[in-house]
Amino acid sequence: MAYETIITETRGKVGLITLNRPKALNALNSQILAELVSAVNGFGADPGIGAMVVTGSDKAFAAGADIKEMQAISYVDAYSQDFFVGWEEFTRARKPIIAAVAGYALGGGCELAMMCDFIIAADTAKFGQPEITLGVIPGMGGSQRLTRFVGKSKAMDMCLTGRMMDAAEAERSGLVSRVVPAGELIEEAIRAAAKIADFSLPSVMMAKEAVNRSYETTLAEGLRFERRLFHSLFALEDQKEGMAAFAEKRKPNFTNR
Ligand code: CAA
Repeated sequence: MAYETIITETRGKVGLITLNRPKALNALNSQILAELVSAVNGFGADPGIGAMVVTGSDKAFAAGADIKEMQAISYVDAYSQDFFVGWEEFTRARKPIIAAVAGYALGGGCELAMMCDFIIAADTAKFGQPEITLGVIPGMGGSQRLTRFVGKSKAMDMCLTGRMMDAAEAERSGLVSRVVPAGELIEEAIRAAAKIADFSLPSVMMAKEAVNRSYETTLAEGLRFERRLFHSLFALEDQKEGMAAFAEKRKPNFTNR
């Protein structure tokens, strides 16, 4: 499929999606949302793909939802369309998605990065929820996900003052999993995704599902959920292969069965 606001490529078993609205610093409009969801669903359905990377440009991962597109929306339009609900489809992806963030990840850009499974940041990355400066609040999950990532105090600070956090602070506070020099960002993210894609896909998908469940439920229910998934993995040939390979001191050959 031909896209206008994103570029899709494959690198081995990794699907790479690059946000590509350079003139608007990758501001997230309805077209980019539709294309991103289509690309993620496409890679999701492709048996040759085991993990994805979403990235932007050196200057901006994404500078937020498209302010010019939103500007004239009325309350009744926003409510009737359930504006931004479309992003929920992005979060339904079952294969892992790594956000590779350089430059600005602001507002919806920060929120999109947090919808991915983890964030690898360039040392140039800047995160923020500046919606308050526009007379609104985060609408793509910022007040909820940022609080779960960094805790109430820092999330309040970010959402109420609109200030930006640099990559070092983002790593310190648990928003990002690693920080790398800007020139190495894409390769590092692809390396991480390729590593994941080499594991048994059903176990990778269940690991993602289990970690995500921890946000949604009590510890007791989450532990039970994890244990049931764990039990189910013993039905896989890949569990037998993985453990046999360990015992035989060789590399496993996973077949996703
Ligand atoms: N929406 C639409 N256009 C945007 C945009 C956005 N979020 N961010 C940047 N652009 C556009 C600018 O309007 C400009 O376009 P023109 O050349 O046509 O004027 C172009 O991108 C380049 O931007 P700047 O000239 O502003 O670049 P800069 O280097 O001087 O500043 C910046 C960079 C600090 C990121 C600045 O662009 C900025 O503050 N952007 C807006 C950030 C923001 O408020 N994001 C939150 C949006 S609301 C939201 O996301 C709601 C939600 O919860 C989902």
